[in-house]
Amino acid sequence: MLIYKQLNIFWFSGTGNAKMVAETMAEKSREMSIPVFLHNIDNFNEKKPEVPDQSVSCIISPTHGFNYPPIVLDFILKMPKGRGRSIFLMNTRAGTKLHKLFLPGASGIALLLAWLILRIKGYHIVGMRPVDPASNWISLHPGLRDKVVKSLMKRACHKAASFAGNMLEGKRKYPALRELPIDLALLPIAIGYYFIGRFMLAKTFMASWKCNNCGRCIRECPVKAISQPLKYPYWSYRCESCMRCMNHCPRRAIQTIHGFTVFAWWLLLGVAGPAIYLLVFDGLLPTTRSPEWISGSIDFFILSAISVPLLILSYRLLYLLMHIKPVNWVISVTSFTFYRFWRRYNAGKAAEADGFSV
Ligand SMILES: Cc1cc2nc3c(=O)[nH]c(=O)nc-3n(C[C@H](O)[C@H](O)[C@H](O)COP(=O)(O)O)c2cc1C
Ligand code: SF4
Ligand code: SF4
Repeated sequence: MLIYKQLNIFWFSGTGNAKMVAETMAEKSREMSIPVFLHNIDNFNEKKPEVPDQSVSCIISPTHGFNYPPIVLDFILKMPKGRGRSIFLMNTRAGTKLHKLFLPGASGIALLLAWLILRIKGYHIVGMRPVDPASNWISLHPGLRDKVVKSLMKRACHKAASFAGNMLEGKRKYPALRELPIDLALLPIAIGYYFIGRFMLAKTFMASWKCNNCGRCIRECPVKAISQPLKYPYWSYRCESCMRCMNHCPRRAIQTIHGFTVFAWWLLLGVAGPAIYLLVFDGLLPTTRSPEWISGSIDFFILSAISVPLLILSYRLLYLLMHIKPVNWVISVTSFTFYRFWRRYNAGKAAEADGFSV
């Protein structure tokens, strides 16, 4: 017997995986004659979501740094009180395929934190499930081949449709909890990513001279992280590394500046920071017999206080210098992403090109 009168799917997607999975679940709902409403979380900047009675809701989003991305966490915090309404939580992760072996990503605290917030708000969490379409993190690796993307997507959509069917029949299922020990072990990394890592990653994007100012990256960014103070786009700390801009740029102009990042981190964190520390602070600090962990923490704090502002300045300076063609050239050709073999990722395009669509 069907107990819900409506399914609301709230989805966020950087490069199309979560969107395609959401559409598959919507299709399943229609097959079961349950009206379905798809809501893009990008559009909830200003307005508050509404959750009708006698409906079941679903949140689906990519996993970023073993957590839901901040835009999704903000959305969850904005959700109205649950008053006993049902909701199921899903995340798409970085799936890969080695020959015939499907390898999953890792959720970390993505679903657990959302579960906690929504429980406090009064929702019944009726299901939690990850699915594993292809990894879109092309700052780390080239986009996977279309054939592999399609195969991973098909599998993820199949699992998601079956799960949605179970949810709509009123069942309760929590396959995500099978990975609980690993997910909890990833908590420190998730915290590090949320408070530090994502800000560092935001400053690894830059546009090459191939940019023709079409403005697409600025228009499409879900968190309005890109501005254009001069000729080229500029990435602010709001960037959540969803990878949309880089994958959708029609000129392949957006690069992850690998060469510069490694050089700047080595120079500023490894050489300049410690050198300034030795020159300015070494003789100034009192030599007390404090335990090693205290003096180590003080050293770390001072080093960070010197190096982090230098890193921030270096990105601003680089942005200015990128307007000088030879500098732009050097920075671009020392980025892996500049080269053709470093494929871009677009879930929908890859799947459709191979005759698979939802
Ligand atoms: C910055 C960043 C961080 C990521 N962190 C994780 C992670 O912690 N665990 C994981 O399994 N996948 C991770 N991924 C991979 C994505 O979650 C995965 O490819 C997802 O399916 C992309 O969905 P989308 O196309 O809807 O944006 C990460 C991707 C990016 C870009
Ligand atoms: S999408 Fe690409 S070409 Fe268009 S403005 Fe952005 S970086 Fe430039
Ligand atoms: S700047 Fe690009 S990677 Fe960052 S949040 Fe916006 S679209 Fe995503």
